[in-house]
Amino acid sequence: MKPFAPACERNRDPILTVLRQQFADRQRVLEIGSGTGQHAVYFAGAMPQLSWQCSDRAEHLPGIRMWLEEAALPNTPEPLELDVGSHWPAQRYDAVFSANTLHIMAWDEVEALFAHLPQITTEDARLAIYGPFNIDGRYTSDSNAAFDQSLKARGAHMSIRDAAAVDALAAKSGFNLIADIAMPAHNRCRIWQRG
Ligand SMILES: C[S@@+](CC[C@H](N)C(=O)[O-])C[C@H]1O[C@@H](n2cnc3c(N)ncnc32)[C@H](O)[C@@H]1O
Repeated sequence: MKPFAPACERNRDPILTVLRQQFADRQRVLEIGSGTGQHAVYFAGAMPQLSWQCSDRAEHLPGIRMWLEEAALPNTPEPLELDVGSHWPAQRYDAVFSANTLHIMAWDEVEALFAHLPQITTEDARLAIYGPFNIDGRYTSDSNAAFDQSLKARGAHMSIRDAAAVDALAAKSGFNLIADIAMPAHNRCRIWQRG
């Protein structure tokens, strides 16, 4: 049976609205941490001008393949194994998307993700990251505070990240914040431009 994440059904339309605008002139998107693959088939189906490259750790690839094979879209290549701490593709992309991953990765993995961006992106690449962020070290809602407690109970390495700390990693890799869009359920879509 295909893996299924109910949250993807809830957040896919608000995210699609952002990506239609932010990726309007993009061609090759790398998605990091595709999870189930639900976002990929929805976004690739809605934006057929994009090649949407899924990636994730090896254990997620069979589930992603199930979604891609069922949808049989012409613009979703075979998913790549990508662990930000080790496996990276040789190709370059003009857009990178990732949803709900920074709080799951350990901080040194978040650092590794941003450190590798220059080698897998074009000079004018755009980066879009969806998920919860803290502002000035504070939660933006009670629900995010409770979510962070539940993350920490699952694993001490997991935590909602501070927006400024993530922006600093992006800047070190040559990506500047160009938009910070409020999303439902106290999430954000933060967009950075390379160069
Ligand atoms: C909460 S899930 C989000 C999945 C999907 N993007 C979504 O929004 O439903 C977190 C994802 O981050 C991925 N992830 C965690 N650590 C990773 C790492 N070191 N490298 C690449 N992906 C990682 C997990 O495998 C998982 O697919």
